[in-house]
Amino acid sequence: MQNTLKNKKILITAGPTREYLDPVRFISNQSTGKMGYAIAETLHNLGANVYLVSGPVTITSNFPKDKIIAVETGKQMYDECKKLFNELDIAIFCAAVADYTPKITSEIKIKKIENEISIEFIKNVDIAYEFGRVKTSQQKSIGFALETNNVLDNAASKLNKKNFNCIVANSPNKDEGFGYDTNKIAILKSDLSLTEYPLKSKHEVAQDIINAIIEMFKPVAETAF
Ligand code: CTP
Repeated sequence: MQNTLKNKKILITAGPTREYLDPVRFISNQSTGKMGYAIAETLHNLGANVYLVSGPVTITSNFPKDKIIAVETGKQMYDECKKLFNELDIAIFCAAVADYTPKITSEIKIKKIENEISIEFIKNVDIAYEFGRVKTSQQKSIGFALETNNVLDNAASKLNKKNFNCIVANSPNKDEGFGYDTNKIAILKSDLSLTEYPLKSKHEVAQDIINAIIEMFKPVAETAF
């Protein structure tokens, strides 16, 4: 069963992105990359060909450093992922890509002159959506939905909108989500079947997600008439 993923080309996006206001200031989020890196390590150990495209993180990991494709902004993350889209077997979108990016990034440091300033933001490119638009029926994609409310409804709508084969739903509660070493997930598949898991370490959660991915590659059982 574990052999199913050997040599499979798997993209994982992980960590936060940084959207720059000027050369020294950016907006970002609290993602630490722990979940994405745990999945990347496990898949690498299973012999998969893992492309880890990562925003800036400070965690320690056993994933080979020379195989990390390091980026900062959402646009850079998209550009690196896009180069790989055609050849992928699987894409796992763990990154917390900033939804918006400043309309203008100042080339010089913004000076403190005005009492009030406003910054205009524009939507960032949605990497998972773009892959969902072009993926073939052989290519599988897995998304994450971190939700504070209506968790399953929101996850189902993202599954649909981004053409995922399954989506991992979780919440930013204590011991779950950003920053913690543990996570409590539910996996919703495109046939809308739902599996809920108890609180586990992120490495155990990674294994649960990988098992769900392996299931997708099982031949559909023949129906007896
Ligand atoms: N995602 C992505 N690129 C983006 C935004 C999100 O690849 N620009 C991916 C995430 O990695 C995740 C999934 O899409 O797998 C859902 O991300 P999320 O931030 O929860 O959803 P959004 O579409 O940004 O919706 P909202 O922030 O309004 O909940």
